[in-house]
Amino acid sequence: MDRRTFLAGFASLVAAPAAARMKMHGMRQPPNGLVLPEGQPLRELPRLENQTADPGNFRASLSAGPATVRFAEGVDTPVLAYNRMSPGPLIEVSEGDRVEIAFANDIPGEESTIHWHGMPVPADQDGNPMDPVPSGGGRTYAFDLPEGSAAPYWYHPHPHGKTAEQVYRGLAGVFLVKPKVDPVPAEYGDTVLMFTDLRLAPDGTMPASTMIDQMNGRVGDHVLVNGQKNPSLALNLGDKRRVRFYNATNARYLRLTFENANMVIIGTDGGLLEKPVPADDILLTPAERVELIVTFDKAGQARLKTLDYDRGWMGPGRPNDAGLVLLTANVAKSPATPQPPLPATLRTITPLGTAAVTRRFVFTEKLKMGSGAMSTGSHNMHVGSDSMAMNSGPMSIEFLINGAAFDMNRVDVVTKLGDVELWEVVNQSDMDHPFHVHGTQFQVVEHELRGKVTRPTYVSWKDTVNVVQGETARLLLRQGQPGRRMYHCHILEHEDLGMMGIVDVQA
Ligand code: C2O
Ligand code: CU
Ligand code: CU
Repeated sequence: MDRRTFLAGFASLVAAPAAARMKMHGMRQPPNGLVLPEGQPLRELPRLENQTADPGNFRASLSAGPATVRFAEGVDTPVLAYNRMSPGPLIEVSEGDRVEIAFANDIPGEESTIHWHGMPVPADQDGNPMDPVPSGGGRTYAFDLPEGSAAPYWYHPHPHGKTAEQVYRGLAGVFLVKPKVDPVPAEYGDTVLMFTDLRLAPDGTMPASTMIDQMNGRVGDHVLVNGQKNPSLALNLGDKRRVRFYNATNARYLRLTFENANMVIIGTDGGLLEKPVPADDILLTPAERVELIVTFDKAGQARLKTLDYDRGWMGPGRPNDAGLVLLTANVAKSPATPQPPLPATLRTITPLGTAAVTRRFVFTEKLKMGSGAMSTGSHNMHVGSDSMAMNSGPMSIEFLINGAAFDMNRVDVVTKLGDVELWEVVNQSDMDHPFHVHGTQFQVVEHELRGKVTRPTYVSWKDTVNVVQGETARLLLRQGQPGRRMYHCHILEHEDLGMMGIVDVQA
C-alpha cells in the first residue's frame, strides 16, 4: 500500500488524546513522572550456574515466569523473568561444549519456548514456534557447540504470536560462547552491554501495546543497559576495554557513538572479524550484536550516546532517537596499567563462494480496514484499552513475505543441506526491517538501493541484517543441519503479525 493512502486511513482512526499521548513518548522526560535512577555502577549480568563439574559439559535450568523488578523509585514492576531475573542470567560456555538446559514454563496461561538466537543448534532444539512448551510444562534443550562457534549469541522466547510481548515483558538473556584460544587480550576484560527498552505506566506496570506499537514495533521510554538506566563505568586514562553491544529491544534502532573514546569493531553476530575495523558510529538494529575494543584516551566523561536514524515510521509518535545517554564512563587522569596490543589478525573467514540457488524474499505491508477485516484472519490488532478510539471501524495490518503471512503449517522454502544459497531480501515496504535467519550465520554480499550497489568493507558472519526501506540486500548462506528453520523480521511485532517464513532444510 502506498504511504499516503495508508496514513490517510490511519489518521481517521486515531483519536486526539491517543495522538497526544504518542507525542509524549518521543520526549526526553517520561510522561508519567516516574524516575529511574541513573549513574549507578554498571552491574555485571549474573551468570547461570553450571550444575556439573564434568569437563566439556554445561548443565543448568531456566524457568520463565512472573517476577517483579524495581526499575523506578518506589514502585515495583511486574515482569516476566528467567530464574526471576530480567535480563535473564548470562550463559557462558566454551566452543566444543555439550549444553543441556532444563526449561520450565511457569508463565500462567501462555505457551513459550527458548530460542537460541544465532546458534548452530539442531532444529528440534531451537525453540521454534512449532515446538511450544505449554504453561506449566517443561523440556530439556540439548546441543553440542562445534569448534569455531565462539560468538555473542542470545536467547529469548519464540511462541507463536506471543514473542514480542514475552520479550518486552522481560524474557531475554545473553549466551556467550567463548573460544578455546582467544586472540583478544584478556587484559581488556569482557564487558557485556545488553540493551533493552522499557515503557512504564504511572503505577509502574508495563502498558499493553497500542496499534502504533504493532505497526512500528514497540519502542519504550527508557533504553536500559543490563537493566539499568545510564549506568557508570570507572576507568583509567588509556584503558582499552572489550565491549559487546547487544540490541535486545523489540524494535529500537540504535545508532551509537562513544564521545571522547575510540571504537574499533572486532566482531559481529557470528564472532570475530578477520581484522579490527575503526568506526565512528555503529547502527545496531534489533537482535544485532557487535564486539568492540574501546580505548578511553581522554580524561573526563566518555558517554555512549544515540544518534538520529530514520527507519521509517507509520503514524504519529516517531520517537526522537538522538541524544539518549546509555552509559557514562568516568575516565580518571591516572594512567591505565599497560595492556598488550590487539593483534592485527583475529582469524580467517572463508568466503562462502558461489551459490547453487538464488531465492527472493519480498517484504510488504498490508493494511486492512472495515468491520469485515477484524473478524477474519488471525493477525488482527490487539488494541490496548487506552490505546486509541476506533471511530470508523476496526483496522488491522499484516507484514508479509512474498505476499503471505506466516503459517506454522506451511513450508515456504525447501533447501538442500550444505548448499550455498544466495538470498535476495527485497524491502518494498515503508520502513526498514532487520532480517534474521535461524540456525546459521550468513555473509552479506551487497545492498542495492535505487540502482546503487554497496558492498560491505569487510567480511563477517551475521545472523541479522538491516534491510533499508526500498533496498535489496543479498546474502550468502548455508544451513549445516537438517530441519525446519524460521526466517523473519526481528522487529518482534512484525514477526508476530506475519513477517516470518519456514525454510525446510533437507538432507
Ligand atoms: Cu531472535 Cu527467530 O529470533
Ligand atoms: Cu533467531
Ligand atoms: Cu519488520
